[in-house]
Amino acid sequence: MSFFWSSWVTVLSLACWLFIFGVLMWTLRTKPDLAEDETTGHVYDDTIREYDKPLPKWWLVVFFGTLFWGLGYFILYPAIQPQMWKGVTTVEVDGQQVPWSSSNELNSNLQANHKVFLSNFESVLENSDASGALPVLATLSELQAAQHKNDKPDPDLQTKIDEQVKALGPFVDKLMTSPEAQKMGNNLFLQNCALCHGSDAQGAVGYPNLTDNDWLFGGKAEDILLTVHHGRKGSMAAWQKQLGESGVRAVAEYVLQISGNQNGYELNQAQVTQGKAIFEANCVLCHGADAKGLTAMGAPNLTDDIWLFGGDRETVQTTIRHGRAGVMPEWQTKLGNERLMLLAAYVRSFSQTAE
Ligand code: HEC
Ligand code: HEC
Repeated sequence: MSFFWSSWVTVLSLACWLFIFGVLMWTLRTKPDLAEDETTGHVYDDTIREYDKPLPKWWLVVFFGTLFWGLGYFILYPAIQPQMWKGVTTVEVDGQQVPWSSSNELNSNLQANHKVFLSNFESVLENSDASGALPVLATLSELQAAQHKNDKPDPDLQTKIDEQVKALGPFVDKLMTSPEAQKMGNNLFLQNCALCHGSDAQGAVGYPNLTDNDWLFGGKAEDILLTVHHGRKGSMAAWQKQLGESGVRAVAEYVLQISGNQNGYELNQAQVTQGKAIFEANCVLCHGADAKGLTAMGAPNLTDDIWLFGGDRETVQTTIRHGRAGVMPEWQTKLGNERLMLLAAYVRSFSQTAE
């Protein structure tokens, strides 16, 4: 709040308090002139006459109580112009007692929760015989803090950071056997990942299934860690300009053939032959000479029955014609290294094979 508005609120609150206090004191002091029968002489409807009886004790006590309760708030919290009076209440932020404010209180709660999470996490590591991850995590967060200070990310430092991330891989494998870690991973997955990958992690069109053992970017613990730390971008170019519509159709026909033609199309063999040549000239760089995909490129295997965008003729043609660019967001800055270990263990446990 700006200086003006918080001053405005202060003046209103204090004026209101003083007014109510004043009115109360005034009514306690003033004694109206009473008639002989102790009435005030006020008569309503000819029959109702007004006495002047003292205010009930309990009512006065409650009234004064609320007034002083209100004063207490002025003292405890920055209720008077916060730049002049910060209140005597404090909360702990970064290990220090600081004056109360709603944002300090939020930070304090978040930090307290994080502390609880970290101690749970440490005991999960210990139970999984994976405490060796702690020094790696410590080095990693130091390197990340240093990188964070750079205006432009330093590539050498980034290499070192990625080495530490990969070094967490073996500990992620150990976490896969821990039911506690799985439970925490499941919660994190539902909160952060299910939106795109589905609550059963089986994906949707354009969002990969994480439960099969078919990986765009690799399924080793360290690959999954790098995926969730930095995010990934799929980049499949649009080929319509370069190949022309007939080229697109021919290479699509070839892709349908090598993928096993699950839809049972009657394939145009002339196109398949033409498509094979186009494929070998243009596509093997990313999809590999055997068309089984290259994880370094995030390029999918085109010889299996698993499709990211769809394996019917129309969709395969559309993919090749216009290209695709799936985006997996980064999570390191949002969830932190510890939670990403739990998520990687959870995700990897679905496919279960150790490569
Ligand atoms: C905004 C949607 C979105 C969210 C949220 C999301 N992902 Fe993804 N994720 C994607 C997309 C899209 C891809 C595929 C990228 C591509 O096409 O190359 C992907 C790819 C992946 C991969 C690589 C799969 C492979 O085959 O190599 C993993 C692992 C993964 N996500 C895990 C997660 C986890 C764990 C979370 C939660 C922290 C998450 N994702 C949240 C969209 C999302
Ligand atoms: C620059 C590397 C690159 C080249 C070259 C490339 N692709 Fe791709 N391709 C990809 C990537 C990466 C994806 C996944 C896109 C995504 O995740 O958004 C993909 C996806 C596909 C898919 C979708 C598969 C699915 O599961 O839905 C098809 C089909 C495909 N490519 C065919 C081709 C053909 C045919 C060519 C040659 C004309 C080609 N690609 C050339 C990188 C490439």
